[in-house]
Amino acid sequence: ILITLIFSLFAYFLGGLNGAILLSKFKGWTDPRLHGSKNPGATNMLRLHHAQAASLVLIFDLLKGTIPVYCAYLIGLPPLAIGFVGIATCLGHIFPPYHDFRGGKAVATGLGTLLPLGMNMTGLIVITWLLSVALTGYSSLAAIITALSAPIYIYFIKPEFTVPVIMLSSLIILRHIGNIRRLIRGKEKKIVNWK
Ligand code: G3P
Repeated sequence: ILITLIFSLFAYFLGGLNGAILLSKFKGWTDPRLHGSKNPGATNMLRLHHAQAASLVLIFDLLKGTIPVYCAYLIGLPPLAIGFVGIATCLGHIFPPYHDFRGGKAVATGLGTLLPLGMNMTGLIVITWLLSVALTGYSSLAAIITALSAPIYIYFIKPEFTVPVIMLSSLIILRHIGNIRRLIRGKEKKIVNWK
């Protein structure tokens, strides 16, 4: 339990480093939390800047999700503990201690935490997200569809991780309430149309 706690704390503080906010500070750009969808994530960086900025943020946020979970897996923590470490990273991304506790929606970070669960899970998640974006045009809707699918996939691939993945998906969907409202009102912007 102590090791899980230490790992989760490390994961939370690593998760708190937000790629979009840090890159914007480094580049002298305005805070992404003030413009576009006001979300400090890769999608909004694409909207506000360009694909290169979005890719950098995506890779950074993804890796910070992967590292703690992978370390937890390497030292042999049990599935539920590994799950908590993943959730702690996402909580760090959502409520970052260095950025006034106003962070992102943990889509890239959440995906990062799933990478150590293997190629089958990663492949299914990435394909679901890409297909959903291709079919709907909405990044947020794709994230929601993927979050709804993830527990079903993991149940068949690695059932011991079903509970943490349900927690992760719930967290991501809850963070998209604003997007869901905009989608219902027809006010959500497609990523292909944004600039
Ligand atoms: O990754 C976050 C995405 O699902 C939604 O982002 O900026 O459209 O709220 P955004």
